[in-house]
Amino acid sequence: MAVREDVDKFSSGLTTTQSPFIEEARTSGKLYIEQPYKLYSEENHDAWRKLFARMQSRWDQYAKPHFRKGIENLSLDPNRVPRLEDVNKFLKPLTGFRAKAVSGYVPAFLFFDCLRNREFPTTVTIRRSDKLDYLPEPDIFHDIAGHVPMHTDKAFADTLVRFGEVAHTAADIVQGIKDEDEQAAVMTSIIKAVARFFWFTIEFGLMRGEKGKIVAYGSGLLSSYGELAHCIDSPEVQRYPIQIEWVINQYFEIDHYQPLLFIVDSFDHLFSLVDTLEKWMKEGKLNNVSPGEPEVSADDLKSFLHAEIAK
Ligand SMILES: [Fe+2]
Repeated sequence: MAVREDVDKFSSGLTTTQSPFIEEARTSGKLYIEQPYKLYSEENHDAWRKLFARMQSRWDQYAKPHFRKGIENLSLDPNRVPRLEDVNKFLKPLTGFRAKAVSGYVPAFLFFDCLRNREFPTTVTIRRSDKLDYLPEPDIFHDIAGHVPMHTDKAFADTLVRFGEVAHTAADIVQGIKDEDEQAAVMTSIIKAVARFFWFTIEFGLMRGEKGKIVAYGSGLLSSYGELAHCIDSPEVQRYPIQIEWVINQYFEIDHYQPLLFIVDSFDHLFSLVDTLEKWMKEGKLNNVSPGEPEVSADDLKSFLHAEIAK
């Protein structure tokens, strides 16, 4: 009986991995969706309220000041799951970005292509209110409270757009390779390199702040209560100035705190690194990076090989 009640409590709303609405969208192949706001349960709003409340002091202490400002600029309600259209009302005038609801994983090229168009694929489900630290897949707290505040910053937003342009460059280069096996191998390597670079910057990046203090700007860190303190304070974390040749060859695992993080000097520095990434790609330096995580799925590969690219 207790189990039954538990299932009902969470499956009625938009709870991560337990939402019939999302299951149905995925089954019918609908990737871009409307945020079905009325489906959020009180349980879902409760999860948002708890997550948002406990991050406040952590953000004050460990986040890049631009992020704090972004949270204010978006006027997020601390008590209710945000409506994406409300978020976009504040976000769009600042950098042209907007959050766009999706039903789940977006194949790599499509994801980067959205960034190029200043759209951010955004998960609408939220983790269970009784398991705040367990996150089997991204949720709306990670996407809206972790990513989107940074999108209010012009330099950061422009960097995301550059990632989208670099994805187009990759598709262009690889679609020109005639031999199919070679094409798949090169594409897999390039996707791996770009995914690693994205992971160690946009998701888990550190920056040198005022007076040399290290702060977090990566959304995986900014949306994690435990890891945000750990990434700055723990002696167990290796923190090194970013080197592109290291990052593109460095595997990562997603199911535990990151033991190795990279520091950039500024968003201008990050932007220039994305330029370098593209230059290296054109020179073939990403064609055979070190194997290992992340896995490149068949859908990711296909998304690049069949991409419609701007010429
Ligand atoms: Fe993310």
